[in-house]
Amino acid sequence: MKGVILAGGLATRLRPLTYVTNKHLLPIYNKPMIYYPLEAMAKAGIKEVLLTSSADHAGHFASLLGAGEEFGLKLYYAVQKNPQGGIADAMMLAEEFARNEKMTVLLGDNIFGHDLTKSVAEMEAKEKGAKVFGIEMPTKSKQYGVIETDENGKVLSIEEKPEFPKSDFAQTGIYMYDERVFDFIKGLSPSARGELEVTDLNNFYVKEGTMSFEVIDWWIDAGTSYDELLRANVMVQEKVKAGELQ
Ligand code: G1P
Repeated sequence: MKGVILAGGLATRLRPLTYVTNKHLLPIYNKPMIYYPLEAMAKAGIKEVLLTSSADHAGHFASLLGAGEEFGLKLYYAVQKNPQGGIADAMMLAEEFARNEKMTVLLGDNIFGHDLTKSVAEMEAKEKGAKVFGIEMPTKSKQYGVIETDENGKVLSIEEKPEFPKSDFAQTGIYMYDERVFDFIKGLSPSARGELEVTDLNNFYVKEGTMSFEVIDWWIDAGTSYDELLRANVMVQEKVKAGELQ
């Protein structure tokens, strides 16, 4: 299993904090944001991770993280030319890196405590398929993808920021894919916002009946607003003080 962390984008919603700094280098309490997905990868037993970012910031990540020894990882870097291409577009940068292997993709601004070790092992054992991780929260704000399941947890649909959400499960930025993912991405067209959407990609697997789903207990997309960034800082502070996080 290979790991991919997406740390590009323009982060316009966090300006002026992000005029000269990459969003994923901003602090979340006692560490830069990017440490959290890196630690999640390491905790899950993933050894090789590709970090994608823009040309402006790739060097900043290399200065901070080097070859990844501090995390027990082997880190690779890729430069995303089009920061507005979308999540699935950025994932294409991993085509060589993850060829013929499964991969775990994390959005670099997602802060969560869930241990992915078991899910990695389950995914490795599967012949084919993908996995999304959801969190129960009010989905009315049209901020997230929404995952609809049946009573057995089978994924029926995933809709990107729907007008009328079919469930209270928001799609987080934690994804696992089989080896065919790049072929599926090549079949995508840009959405109304001009991006190759991860939700459209995920729906290939939903239609095929090979998408699985897991619920996690806490999660923050720290890059969405000043408020979520602040909330992530406070939540991590509480968890560090409680001894749940380092
Ligand atoms: C993206 C996905 C969305 C998901 C969210 C999680 O949204 O498209 O489905 O819920 O990440 O952070 P974006 O941040 O690109 O608007």
